[in-house]
Amino acid sequence: MTEIKIRDKEFRKMIAAEDIQQRVKSIAANINEDYKDKIPLFIGVLNGAFIFMADLFKHITIPCELSFTRLSSYTGTTGGAMKKLIGISEDIKQRHLIIVEDIVDTGDTVKYIFDELKKHDTASVKLAAMLFKPAALRHDIKPDYTGFEIPPAFVVGYGLDYDGMGRNLNDIYVLK
Ligand code: IMP
Repeated sequence: MTEIKIRDKEFRKMIAAEDIQQRVKSIAANINEDYKDKIPLFIGVLNGAFIFMADLFKHITIPCELSFTRLSSYTGTTGGAMKKLIGISEDIKQRHLIIVEDIVDTGDTVKYIFDELKKHDTASVKLAAMLFKPAALRHDIKPDYTGFEIPPAFVVGYGLDYDGMGRNLNDIYVLK
């Protein structure tokens, strides 16, 4: 299907499932090569990254570990919106981390995660993102491994949602 409707919005197909799988395989091959002498810890950012992580992991052949994190928002004691990184139970000291994201848009999320991880004595931190919107980026952070660079339009599918829906689509769709 090239056009779909989710709730009140219409989307058209932008990246086909086969093309996504090709990119996933090639990213995995690069990681297998780059980390062949290391034991990286993959950290997926929930919810969006779960499908990319699962597909990527099937093609990772080097010894490695896996974890997931989530950014939870809460209201601080001074009333402002605060963020907190939750879910990383592994000791990340001196570990080689690969952050796995569905999409880097403004970069706010990955900037926050990188700043938090920098407080720990990690060996290295790299970023793998299925989608990257360079035109929307507000920070000096770029994915080390990118699936596709896309224009700054709203997309759904392959883990990404519109109002909670569409994460289960195998292709990626863009808002019409
Ligand atoms: P950033 O912090 O602006 O880089 O955005 C990161 C998060 O916003 C992603 O992990 C997604 O959950 C969400 N997001 C950004 N762009 C889109 C989009 O086009 N579709 C769906 N979710 C998006």
